[in-house]
Amino acid sequence: MGVQESPRDNLVPINWPLLRQEAKRAAEHAYAPYSRLHVGAAGLTNDGSVLAACNVENSSYGLTLCAECGLVSMLRASGASALVAVSIVAGDGAPLAPCGRCRQVLIEQGGAEILVDLGADQQPVQLGTLLPWTFGAEAIEARHS
Ligand code: THU
Repeated sequence: MGVQESPRDNLVPINWPLLRQEAKRAAEHAYAPYSRLHVGAAGLTNDGSVLAACNVENSSYGLTLCAECGLVSMLRASGASALVAVSIVAGDGAPLAPCGRCRQVLIEQGGAEILVDLGADQQPVQLGTLLPWTFGAEAIEARHS
């Protein structure tokens, strides 16, 4: 799939090959001596930037940082306010399903309409499809008196 218009914001074209390439490049820098699974996550922001991050493991396994967490940190630090599209790949460049925690982390930063790469042979899927009946801020706000 080549350059596409996003359904949610036709001012930001989605260059899927570039996103995949940046995700794979980031995966090359993964610190994953324990699982040996290198992960790269690239995202297109609402201001048109492409950002990418990798997973960072720790000898205290539960402290491992997924690639998507690095991406979200970069999103906020860049000053952009939302992700439009993401490509998450393993070290071989093939798409990787984001873990459940990362689906929740990502959806707060762009909503159910964030497009998730399924590879060049398939249409991207909306994040809301991967995380239905999402817990979000409105569930908290509804209970504030
Ligand atoms: N990992 C990610 O970076 N993102 C995911 O969505 C799935 C899992 C990483 C964490 C750990 O370093 C390795 O993959 C194996 O779980």
